[in-house]
Amino acid sequence: MKFYASLLAIVSAVVAQSAQIGAPQAGSSVVAGSNFTVMIERPNSLSSSQEVSIVIGLVPCGETECPDPKSELGEILYQGPFNPQYATPPDSLPPHQNYSLQVPASFAVGRATLAVAHLSLIGAIMSPNLDFSNTTLTITNASSDTNVSARTIRSMRILGNRT
Ligand SMILES: *[C@@H]1O[C@H](CO)[C@@H](O)[C@H](O)[C@H]1NC(C)=O
Ligand SMILES: *[C@@H]1O[C@H](CO)[C@@H](O)[C@H](O)[C@H]1NC(C)=O
Ligand SMILES: *[C@@H]1O[C@H](CO)[C@@H](O)[C@H](O)[C@H]1NC(C)=O
Ligand SMILES: *[C@@H]1O[C@H](CO)[C@@H](O)[C@H](O)[C@H]1NC(C)=O
Ligand SMILES: *[C@@H]1O[C@H](CO)[C@@H](O)[C@H](O)[C@H]1NC(C)=O
Repeated sequence: MKFYASLLAIVSAVVAQSAQIGAPQAGSSVVAGSNFTVMIERPNSLSSSQEVSIVIGLVPCGETECPDPKSELGEILYQGPFNPQYATPPDSLPPHQNYSLQVPASFAVGRATLAVAHLSLIGAIMSPNLDFSNTTLTITNASSDTNVSARTIRSMRILGNRT
């Protein structure tokens, strides 16, 4: 009985302590070669936990279904410590950490999965917990952006230089 009770406690603690992607929002566009902010949240919880590390990867979806982050993290944008902090004012956001990460300039344009793997130790017995979260982004090409006005002005200058 005691075993099941502590198992249940750990299961609910695990759900509460999973890392979640707070930003960017699903469906956001990011230009290949540019930096973007990834906000990783770890909702507050009464049970104790120790952060170990986090890995943030980007996987192109290609023509088929987006891959499962449990089996593929693709291009690793970050791996290392995770140290979530309260925002100011404390109630505005869950404890979180922001990372400024760069999409490789050569990254395939189109849909991609931003995937996070998070390792922590939960409770007094240090139960190891690996959890995953993911969101879908659209990677665009800097040269093919839809900033028509800028492109129009640029081509007008080129035409102007010719005459
Ligand atoms: C993290 O980024 C979010 C969204 O951009 C922002 O609201 C928040 O203030 C940032 N947190 C810190 C500690 O800079
Ligand atoms: C852009 O991201 C890289 C890591 O991907 C980081 O080293 C660099 O500091 C970031 N640049 C800015 C301006 O935040
Ligand atoms: C990836 O995200 C989708 C949509 O939020 C979700 O249904 C799926 O369970 C997630 N996969 C993993 C391994 O977290
Ligand atoms: C993206 O832009 C580069 C040049 O900056 C070009 O070589 C490449 O073909 C473009 N890719 C797509 C899919 O548009
Ligand atoms: C288009 O490009 C110009 C010049 O680089 C910039 O000032 C403007 O904000 C851009 N507009 C959009 C919608 O990105």
